[in-house]
Amino acid sequence: MRPKVVLLGAPGAGKGTQAELLAEKFGVPHISTGDLLREEVRQGTELGRQAKGYMDRGELVPDELMIAMIKGCLGSGGRGRDGFILDGFPRTVAQAEALAEIVKLDRVIDLRLPEEEVVRRLSARRVCPRCGKVYNLVLSPPKREGLCDECGSPLVQREDDRPEVIRRRYRVYMEESAPVAEFYRRRGLLREVDGARPVEEVHRAVLAAIEGG
Ligand code: AP5
Repeated sequence: MRPKVVLLGAPGAGKGTQAELLAEKFGVPHISTGDLLREEVRQGTELGRQAKGYMDRGELVPDELMIAMIKGCLGSGGRGRDGFILDGFPRTVAQAEALAEIVKLDRVIDLRLPEEEVVRRLSARRVCPRCGKVYNLVLSPPKREGLCDECGSPLVQREDDRPEVIRRRYRVYMEESAPVAEFYRRRGLLREVDGARPVEEVHRAVLAAIEGG
């Protein structure tokens, strides 16, 4: 099975964490629009330059930029053409409509997490700027303080994981992205999963929702 799956959910709901596990399990790419954008910013491309301000403020990057980016990944010749775990897209109904023109999805998972837990998790998130591994200072700290277990690089906090930006991202999510779940519910593709449980438990529930139909 090489499914075509979308993970929805608030900032910090665990989309990236679960997407990694699912991508490994099914042998398909994990496509994270947040990671792709951060790479564009790092490389100083024109897209990265345009996206950076929106990201730092916790706002959405305009639909036309995002849709063009995702067409490149999922269209014929893209790395997700034979299955994927898509994390961070779609975030608006316009993006969901555009995605429906490109691929037929097998399942959409909505990871549910209350706002207090979002703030708690994201404030404690640290990431490795070199290999991308994600840590949580409270729940999954690195073995050596401040250093990546995999490659030894000093860990950093994401620009948009400051408390005021986290709150803003959550508000943007409620206003712009929550209606996307409704879009998929009406099409019979949506399954809700409680994300406020240990990673392995959430993983089992997500797998059941994908494999069980
Ligand atoms: P993006 O990178 O997609 O950010 P996000 O949606 O806000 O999601 P996060 O990466 O913050 O969280 P996550 O759900 O992946 O959680 P994670 O697994 O890391 O987007 C960033 C920005 O890019 C956006 O604000 C926007 O500007 C732009 N953008 C991206 N896509 C766009 C689009 N389509 N349209 C427009 N703009 C777009 O987990 C979080 C923390 O919790 C970690 O520390 C982790 O270790 C921990 N954790 C995870 N699961 C658990 C668990 N079960 N129990 C305890 N801790 C857990």
